[in-house]
Amino acid sequence: MIEKSDDRPPVALEQRGVGADQRMFSPSAARNAAPILAILQRVLPSSGSVLEIGCGTGEHAVSFAAAMPQLTWRPSDPDPDARASASSWISFADLSNVSAPLDIDVCASTWCVEQDAPFDVMISLNMVHIAPWSASLGLFAGAGRLLRAGALLILYGPFTRDGAHNAPSNAAFDVSLKARNQSWGLRDIADLERLGEVSGLVLRETIEMPANNRMLVFAKRDNA
Ligand SMILES: C[S@@+](CC[C@H](N)C(=O)[O-])C[C@H]1O[C@@H](n2cnc3c(N)ncnc32)[C@H](O)[C@@H]1O
Repeated sequence: MIEKSDDRPPVALEQRGVGADQRMFSPSAARNAAPILAILQRVLPSSGSVLEIGCGTGEHAVSFAAAMPQLTWRPSDPDPDARASASSWISFADLSNVSAPLDIDVCASTWCVEQDAPFDVMISLNMVHIAPWSASLGLFAGAGRLLRAGALLILYGPFTRDGAHNAPSNAAFDVSLKARNQSWGLRDIADLERLGEVSGLVLRETIEMPANNRMLVFAKRDNA
């Protein structure tokens, strides 16, 4: 899923004094960044703080932070290799509105950013199906704890609706995920809505995206 970058800069980053270049390249992130950005530019607030969960290589963080300089982007991932890649992308992009990647595992009962809450947006792209259901539980619990009233939780990836796949390729992907790890698999929108109810989040919008993916936009209730 994440591949070593074959697009290294001609001058090694060490020579520029910013540490080793550990950027990794995700072909899917390169493909989906533009359509995701188009939706984010419509639904995100004009300014505020974004906590990204499961940032992977960090390519999304730098492209979204560059395109929306009024937002403060805080990427996170529990995988040290992902954080090393994200750090390299951030160093290379030289942006002032994206911070160093944080070590957040949504299954933990508290996260390292509790004292920085509330956040205006929480976003997690392609994470909940490549993690056990407990990660969805933890993600929504965290959103309930750490988002301000009216703030957004945005999920992107393949999802089922009422148990039905929207494409044969997604059904096959679901089977392949479960073969790799029985606790993985596509999540159903209705199940996520039920988690939202518990955490004070309402599904505001379901957006059909390229390649049979979907974007789910949850909003934190004012009285939650
Ligand atoms: C398929 S990658 C997606 C990366 C990136 N968001 C993208 O769309 O290209 C899934 C990411 O979720 C992270 N992840 C898995 N379990 C997690 C958990 N319990 N808490 C937070 N992140 C998790 C993984 O480390 C991985 O980087």
